[in-house]
Amino acid sequence: MDIFEKRKSIRKYKPDEIKKEDLLEIIEAGRLAPSAKNRQPWRFTVLTGEKKEAVLNEMEKGIEKSKKSLFMPKKFKNGMASAENTLRIMREAPVVVLVFNILSGNPYPPIFAGKRVSEIHNTLSIGAAIENMILKAADMGIGSLWIGNTVYAHKEITSYLGTKDQLISAITFGYPGEEPERRPKKTIEDITEFL
Ligand SMILES: Cc1cc2nc3c(=O)[nH]c(=O)nc-3n(C[C@H](O)[C@H](O)[C@H](O)COP(=O)(O)O)c2cc1C
Repeated sequence: MDIFEKRKSIRKYKPDEIKKEDLLEIIEAGRLAPSAKNRQPWRFTVLTGEKKEAVLNEMEKGIEKSKKSLFMPKKFKNGMASAENTLRIMREAPVVVLVFNILSGNPYPPIFAGKRVSEIHNTLSIGAAIENMILKAADMGIGSLWIGNTVYAHKEITSYLGTKDQLISAITFGYPGEEPERRPKKTIEDITEFL
């Protein structure tokens, strides 16, 4: 089975630690990803043990604050249970990697249209690095989950870590404690046209 078939989001983990050399191999796959103008805008923070707990406590604070916010659109409010579930998964996984965009700060203030293009390209490049890493992990028998729910705690986590970089995502890594069914995927015909 090729790695694209093998990779699935893993939301249950065994407690076994991942060896540092294996983590370095995964990050190496991210390091080699393509990026717009070869800017390589990514930075990875590997969290385990007490540091991981501390950062996840900050994430919990952000989620709690978001739940109480009067300004949050209803459709996001409905997603809060998903954010809490994601936090539970992150607490279970032995490793959480935070993925930063070193060329952008807080994404919430408005930005100029011109800047928006490089912003989009940097985000795409970082997505390529994340995809390389989770495919590499799958190839090594290590499960992973790509997490965007860090959006609810951008301020809390970046302030805690004392960084102005933009927190793009987190990724959990761990040995799979489940074998989920393949999630439904659109067919090639649904997503492709040949002209
Ligand atoms: C940008 C991005 C953000 C995601 N954020 C989350 C998340 O916060 N929590 C979660 O449980 N899954 C998250 N996922 C995983 C998706 O739910 C998952 O990839 C999708 O349901 C397809 O399942 P598969 O990965 O097993 O193919 C995210 C995936 C991507 C690409």
